[in-house]
Amino acid sequence: MMSTIDRGHWSSKLGFILAAAGSAVGLGNIWKFPYITGENGGGWFVLIYLICIACVGLPIMTAEIFIGRTAQSSPVGAFRALSRPGSPWIGVGWLGVATAFVILSYYSVVAGWAMHYAWLSISGAFARISPDQIAPIFATGDLSDPGLYENAPLNLLWHILFMGLTIAIVIGGIRGGVERWARILMPVLFLFLLVLLGRAMTTEGFAGALDFVFGPHSDKLTPAGVLEALGHAFFTLSLGMGAMITYGSYLKSDDDLVTTSITVSVLDTIIALVACMVLFPIIFAYGMEPSAGPGLVFVSLPIAFAQMPAGSFWATLFFVLLTFAALTSAISLLEVAVSYFIDEKGWKRSRATLLCGGVILVLGIPSALSGGTELFGAGFQSATGALGIKEGAGLNWFDFFDYLASNWMLPLGGLGIALFVAWRVGGEAREQGFRAGTQYGRLYWAWIHLLRYVVPIGVVLVFLNAIGLLGILDEIAW
Ligand code: PFF
Repeated sequence: MMSTIDRGHWSSKLGFILAAAGSAVGLGNIWKFPYITGENGGGWFVLIYLICIACVGLPIMTAEIFIGRTAQSSPVGAFRALSRPGSPWIGVGWLGVATAFVILSYYSVVAGWAMHYAWLSISGAFARISPDQIAPIFATGDLSDPGLYENAPLNLLWHILFMGLTIAIVIGGIRGGVERWARILMPVLFLFLLVLLGRAMTTEGFAGALDFVFGPHSDKLTPAGVLEALGHAFFTLSLGMGAMITYGSYLKSDDDLVTTSITVSVLDTIIALVACMVLFPIIFAYGMEPSAGPGLVFVSLPIAFAQMPAGSFWATLFFVLLTFAALTSAISLLEVAVSYFIDEKGWKRSRATLLCGGVILVLGIPSALSGGTELFGAGFQSATGALGIKEGAGLNWFDFFDYLASNWMLPLGGLGIALFVAWRVGGEAREQGFRAGTQYGRLYWAWIHLLRYVVPIGVVLVFLNAIGLLGILDEIAW
């Protein structure tokens, strides 16, 4: 059922750009990108990532905004409106809604850690503890006692707080909630990042960091790393699950989709690179390893901050920034789920938000407990291992959800979106839609060819990698 409720619109193009950039810039940029860059040896990995953003990410972003703006509806309704009755394309919309539930459930747990760390920095707790007490906080979520079981509830508490904040903002609607908060949080985020960059530039690690991120080091790059870069391009730009379809649906039909897609992608990319230029100099200056993995931001960095003059101040800036980045992304994840119930079921926003937020909160509990409980940690890991996941090693609940979303759901959704726009939408409507209101109409040919050929091939490679068929190539030195 299509609802007659006024869905709302952005107040201006800037409002849309800030909200869409808010969705794109998140934990993916500031937590995940630096650590996967570190694991893959920097240099060539970054170059390949940039190529993936330009050739796969950007065309899909434009395709998503095109679908939303044309249909003026969230993903399920949009696929229904633009395809023939009973057509299976609507499944891409369903998949998007399901993906929003999956991603936000564990995303909120990481965001909760960021909030927890912001609190530890502000309250001065970090200044009072020794560096070797930091790793146990990350592993277990507790400061006083590194025993596993007692600490799990603390992760849960911060997950609940973060979800509560996200729900409170989304309930306010598009202009009064999503856009209003993007207008407040995004400028603060930019400012904090610049100040931190200024600080990082004065450390002696800066030149080494520049070389690490932009220098040509090929020894660590593997085909799996190339595909990781591709998969991350989806995650970081919020693509493949209809977040940009949803945000695009609040645009007016002649708003320029090319300039907005380029602006959002470029902003997202710059922030990921700047995040590296903040993190690595500090990591290098204090003798830490860039390849620390997920603990780079939550273990190595706080240890470095602890040794820095005025470390609590810098740690506060960093973790507040990380929390804000996560919040604007979480808002978009929740909005995908909420807008489905508003558009399709005719629910009121408050009801849809409370219900979806509540379900996601509950779905996130196993992720919050993954580090500390037998059931969702080791037990779940051996169960998934028995199914052959991760070459039989298995994954705990949290890692399994991330694996499911990043390796399967987002690329599959992205493939569906690209194929739909490239092969199913009427050629004339597509070309007119692309050219509406933009001075970049001449890019149409490139856009359509990227969607038709480059994106599908790239995504199929991600799948082959995920089922281990390309793993054998890892053995071959480049
Ligand atoms: N782009 C976000 C990040 O980089 O952290 C994550 C994300 C948000 C993915 C929204 C997907 C999405 F729909």
